[in-house]
Amino acid sequence: MKLTDDEKAMLDGAEGKARQKALEFLIRYGTALGAERLVDTNNVGGYMIADRAGYQKFGGSFDALFSLTGLDSEEPIELPKVKAFSCQFETDMDPEYCKIEGKDEEDYKRFRANEKWLSKIGVTLMCTCTPYLVGNVPVKGEHCAWMESSAVVYINSVLGARTNCEGNASTTAAMLTGKIPYWGFHTDEHRRGTHRIQVEVPVKGLMEWGLLGYYIGKQVGEKVPVVDGIHVLPSRDDLKQFGAATASSGGVEMYHIPGITADAHTLEEAFGGRTGIVELKYGPAERKWAYEQLNLIGTDKNVDFVMFGCPHNSIQQVEEIVKLLEGKHIKDGSHMWVLVPHTIKDLATRNGYTKIIEDAGAVLMSDTCPALGHLMPKGTKVMATNSAKQAHYLPSMMGIEAWYGTTEDCVNAAITGRWEGELK
Ligand code: F3S
Repeated sequence: MKLTDDEKAMLDGAEGKARQKALEFLIRYGTALGAERLVDTNNVGGYMIADRAGYQKFGGSFDALFSLTGLDSEEPIELPKVKAFSCQFETDMDPEYCKIEGKDEEDYKRFRANEKWLSKIGVTLMCTCTPYLVGNVPVKGEHCAWMESSAVVYINSVLGARTNCEGNASTTAAMLTGKIPYWGFHTDEHRRGTHRIQVEVPVKGLMEWGLLGYYIGKQVGEKVPVVDGIHVLPSRDDLKQFGAATASSGGVEMYHIPGITADAHTLEEAFGGRTGIVELKYGPAERKWAYEQLNLIGTDKNVDFVMFGCPHNSIQQVEEIVKLLEGKHIKDGSHMWVLVPHTIKDLATRNGYTKIIEDAGAVLMSDTCPALGHLMPKGTKVMATNSAKQAHYLPSMMGIEAWYGTTEDCVNAAITGRWEGELK
């Protein structure tokens, strides 16, 4: 791999052992991927979570734990301040709701100690999979090193930033060095479309964008779909849902909607001269297929848990839920969680939304999610959600049934305890 002078110096140890080890790791990783060089990054997002087992195993030493998992070093190295702007993504719990998450005092102490250590090394505690909703909004062309499939597909496609879907070790190393291998979605070549999807039905609203994304992800896998035939401008939250769905049923990290997403104004630009494009269509039959797939595990119409916010909700989404919920109460024995970044929770509280949600018997939860934290109210059997991603993952992860529908379908299910959603 070709190295610049500053990289050579870092590799020789001029900036200390942690950065030296981190760079060694990135060179091995990049070489295995066929990268010929590294690229500078000043925007890294990762999960630096010491789970309970890891925390105990390393006697509470975050340096020892992350030396092993982040730097591939058995020898504990004291981690210095990060070099790149770095943010913590979603974590495994919301410290405010230990009890309903099934967490105890030890988890609480671990969580707070983890946060303290992250602050010490300079990692910004955004604690969300949607940092782009709360201030970390990369610009077009910016090289990033982010984890989390829904965030990666959003910033690559909607914002035109450049990242691959990184892992724990590569994001830790990127935080410390400000470098990441230059390959994959950092390059123009990799970002060109491979499939054209002709959309033949109107797509409007969160549920419909989830269905379209779910269908496309299943068809294209890890390729780059180009969506044609969209006549109603999607909202940011529609695109957030769409990308997360494509990354769940498939492994999409980048898509184009010419004229709407960042890289391409036209179909020609989206394909960039590539030939052998695969043609697909999305019509009534494909829409019905996606809806049925996402409701495949639902048989019991008695719903005991409703969740919103995968990816984490925006303030507009919280407001929509509040409008549907205000003055009502969820069914006794049912649970409803609305997930947000903690910054949005602050905003919701100042606007009175948190109180409305709590008065209705629901919870506005931040920092975590059921899939990442393996969290769910005790005894949950049947969940309803407006998230295609959670409807895809949670039934198999948590052994529950799930219903997928509109935000309104889901709020109604929380209030009545019954699922009445259907494809209209
Ligand atoms: Fe975010 Fe958890 Fe969904 S990390 S994208 S809310 S699975």
